[in-house]
Amino acid sequence: MSDSPSARPEPVEGRPTTDNCTRLGFQNMTANPDLAIETAGLTRRFGDFVAVDGLTFSVRRGEVFGLLGPNGCGKTTTIRMLCGVLPPTAGSARVLGLDVSAAADEVKRRIGYMSQRAGLYDDLTVREHLDFYGGLYGLRGNHRQALMDEFLEQTGLTARAGTLVAHLPGGLRQRLAFGCASLHQPPLLFLDEPTAGVDPVARRAFWDAIHRRAQAGTTILITTHFLEDAEYCHSLGLMHRGRLVAWNTPTALKTSLDQAGQALLEIECDEPHRALALVGTWLYTADASLFGSLVHVLLRPQVTLDAAVEELRTLLAGTGIHTARIEQVPPSLEDVFVAATADHVRPIG
Ligand SMILES: Nc1ncnc2c1ncn2[C@@H]1O[C@H](COP(=O)(O)OP(=O)(O)OP(=O)(O)O)[C@@H](O)[C@H]1O
Ligand SMILES: [Mg+2]
Repeated sequence: MSDSPSARPEPVEGRPTTDNCTRLGFQNMTANPDLAIETAGLTRRFGDFVAVDGLTFSVRRGEVFGLLGPNGCGKTTTIRMLCGVLPPTAGSARVLGLDVSAAADEVKRRIGYMSQRAGLYDDLTVREHLDFYGGLYGLRGNHRQALMDEFLEQTGLTARAGTLVAHLPGGLRQRLAFGCASLHQPPLLFLDEPTAGVDPVARRAFWDAIHRRAQAGTTILITTHFLEDAEYCHSLGLMHRGRLVAWNTPTALKTSLDQAGQALLEIECDEPHRALALVGTWLYTADASLFGSLVHVLLRPQVTLDAAVEELRTLLAGTGIHTARIEQVPPSLEDVFVAATADHVRPIG
């Protein structure tokens, strides 16, 4: 198994600006055949609450697209709209060239969906699950049996075919749920938090299975709130409070801070919590957060690095905090996410 997915397709060019996309629609536009998913200002309200707020993004065919964000940011609601289960309240989405509002049933027939709750039954065996879901997806007779055997073989579940789901470990349950959603080999798969509750070894095996599908041409949209998952995706949409705050490849997202002229400093000191509180109010801080016992400080754009480090050292020393190290470090995806979700950048002066 490789550390990162191979044969990455190039991401779709362009990044969304969440402000310019609120009331767009596809009604009069021709579908782009290279795109498996296109959304324009996709929005869902529940009463006065906006759960998904003006999402505009696209996913190219064959791409593994990750929707990453904390609990309650709108990931499942987005998937439900894209699957044709929940009507949008504004904006639009096209899935496999079909408008999800106008052709919801057709969309449902052509996709695979692994729900957040996995949809497994403790009192059915592994094989019974595959048989049941295969039937739901319209697979018949020998064809269904052949696909089931192939799936069991590929995922190492053949010996467990007669095991009740109640007796399966978490990682194998996820693998089975993935099989149930994808047995009919749909061109597009939606996986809602499939790696929740699985150990690191099972997670890697799961990603291997996902990439095998992608390399065979399946487009995959996966949601997660684990940053460990993000590196496995060809492109990522970062969600925060219903909005898409960033969208690009993992590499491009990490270099985006450099391009914006924002350096990231790492502080190792004896009182990280107090240091965090202090740098949080510092003039040159765009954002500050704790990474274990280290403090990360994202500097405002175009702040001179050496002068900033010197000033920071003096500031901390002045309050009795002993710093072992202050240095520039390359941003991780976690830093990017923290920066993208910072509510505002304080004005200088
Ligand atoms: N049917 C509904 N009625 C009212 N509010 C809802 C409904 N469905 C979702 N919400 C709210 O919309 C917001 C987004 O929920 P959603 O389930 O999409 O988030 P999520 O990103 O999938 O979270 P998680 O990581 O916990 O699964 C939440 O505040 C949720 O409570
Ligand atoms: Mg969810």
